[in-house]
Amino acid sequence: MEKKILDVTCGARTIWFNKDHPAAVFCDKRREYGTKIWESADGKKERFVTVDPDLQCDFTNLPFRDNSFPLVIFDPPHLTHGGETSWLVRKYGRLEDNWPEMLRDGFRECMRVLKPDGVLIFKWSEYNLPAEAVWAAIGQKPLFGHRSGKQQQTFWGCFMKIIEEEPCST
Ligand SMILES: C[S@@+](CC[C@H](N)C(=O)[O-])C[C@H]1O[C@@H](n2cnc3c(N)ncnc32)[C@H](O)[C@@H]1O
Repeated sequence: MEKKILDVTCGARTIWFNKDHPAAVFCDKRREYGTKIWESADGKKERFVTVDPDLQCDFTNLPFRDNSFPLVIFDPPHLTHGGETSWLVRKYGRLEDNWPEMLRDGFRECMRVLKPDGVLIFKWSEYNLPAEAVWAAIGQKPLFGHRSGKQQQTFWGCFMKIIEEEPCST
């Protein structure tokens, strides 16, 4: 099947209903198999994570040509706090101090590989940083979006690669 969807931060593919969708290319910068990320105090419960991208790459330097995909998904790390032992950090990663530049560069790369008129879905959890801070960092706001989750902390934003047509010079 033709690859029409690019997920640049697939992680454990939690957001996907079909975690092996044949039209999608799954990317992430890390690869790990069955890492234990949490254990209850009594040792009776455990949580594991597997991150198994089709392609291991950095979203600030994507190995794809310009204008390649009609749909791109960007769900970058959103935690600024939390130690290496926190299960949230182990599952989702953590932002460094340079997060505004990293998100800006990642967003630019997503837009570059998006086809004209293509759609970018940007998922952001406002756990540590408000979505407004992210829109300021990337220099654009989504066309529209929606808050979800029990705490209303997860924001799903929709962007489109709108190319302005040059006016005719006749
Ligand atoms: C919030 S999690 C994504 C969760 C995923 N969407 C899911 O459904 O489970 C963010 C992911 O981005 C990855 N990541 C962090 N920095 C990256 C980078 N520079 N390039 C590619 N992936 C990166 C992390 O390894 C992590 O798996």
